[in-house]
Amino acid sequence: MSNHEAINEAILEIKDLSVAYGTAKGDVLAVQDMNLRVLPNEIMGLIGESGSGKSTLAYAVMRLLKGSARVVKGSVRILGKDIYAMDKEELRQFRWANISMVFQSAMNALNPVLTVETQIVDTILNHRPQLSRREAREKAHELADLVRIDRSRITSYPHELSGGMRQRIVIAIAISLEPSLVIMDEPTTALDVVVQRSILDQIKEIQQRVQFSVLFISHDFSLVSHLASRIAIMYAGRVVEVTEARSLMDAKVAHHPYTEGLWRAIPKLTAKSVALEGIVGTPPDLLHPPSGCAFHPRCRYTFEPCRTVRPQLQDVEGSEIACHRFVPEGIQHGQ
Ligand SMILES: Nc1ncnc2c1ncn2[C@@H]1O[C@H](COP(=O)(O)OP(=O)(O)OP(=O)(O)O)[C@@H](O)[C@H]1O
Ligand SMILES: [Mg+2]
Repeated sequence: MSNHEAINEAILEIKDLSVAYGTAKGDVLAVQDMNLRVLPNEIMGLIGESGSGKSTLAYAVMRLLKGSARVVKGSVRILGKDIYAMDKEELRQFRWANISMVFQSAMNALNPVLTVETQIVDTILNHRPQLSRREAREKAHELADLVRIDRSRITSYPHELSGGMRQRIVIAIAISLEPSLVIMDEPTTALDVVVQRSILDQIKEIQQRVQFSVLFISHDFSLVSHLASRIAIMYAGRVVEVTEARSLMDAKVAHHPYTEGLWRAIPKLTAKSVALEGIVGTPPDLLHPPSGCAFHPRCRYTFEPCRTVRPQLQDVEGSEIACHRFVPEGIQHGQ
């Protein structure tokens, strides 16, 4: 398949992916039977509580799993290429140039003894050795403009910059090689709300100007629903729903009970009285996951098949939902 055909299909295609951590007590399946497609120039959100497997998925997509983590089954294709079929050199050239990642708390992972300009320039030269240092520096300055950091500030060391500026630098590094896909793992969580919003607006603006796809990982539903066009919702290592962000605003559209719970837990500025209705209970222990639907112990709709039969993702009113309440004809059960 040529790159061009692949671009018309999906930038990222995850098929039946399962990832396990080997522990003394047995395997922890942190990602299970995952299927996900990110389309060209799309911002896709990935939402889920802490421990639901979001970062594990991101590392698996980058082929950066470490320690006891391993891919048990499935495939990851980026621009049509199977990232697990590449040899080391192929992978080295492919990664960062085609797919990059902003790591969770990356702004604290900048090298403290190098100026941020040097760090951007080094990243560029690592993959584009044909460029001169001057050309790479010029590109670093253009990137600074793009993330709205004054050119005079990029010769600073990381500690001389605010958290928001450091995070912008990390984003600049992630897009410096013009990748087709950038995975952002909670890129703004450590920042205050005002800075978060401004960085998000910038990500959207840059993404529209430069054209790339984003897989935006967060546990903050309100943040993601403003940024992403589609959102995948993860629970206990599985995708339980993939939906259009705008459908969340429409109370008439059906959603997974977990999605409903997360959405209801967001304080709505428009609500007359703010009723915070979160999700009762705690996420499951992945060493001993519940039978059937992993969400059933916390679900307000649980009925017979939920305890025994695992629901599969299926089309429901334009979304994909894994829930027994919805049968293929769209008839609702168990209310
Ligand atoms: N090194 C490890 N060894 C064993 N199990 C692990 C390890 N790292 C993660 N896990 C398991 O994998 C699950 C998913 O972890 P992961 O970090 O991917 O979650 P996350 O959704 O990114 O959470 P957060 O929102 O807190 O970043 C966890 O619930 C944990 O049980
Ligand atoms: Mg994480």
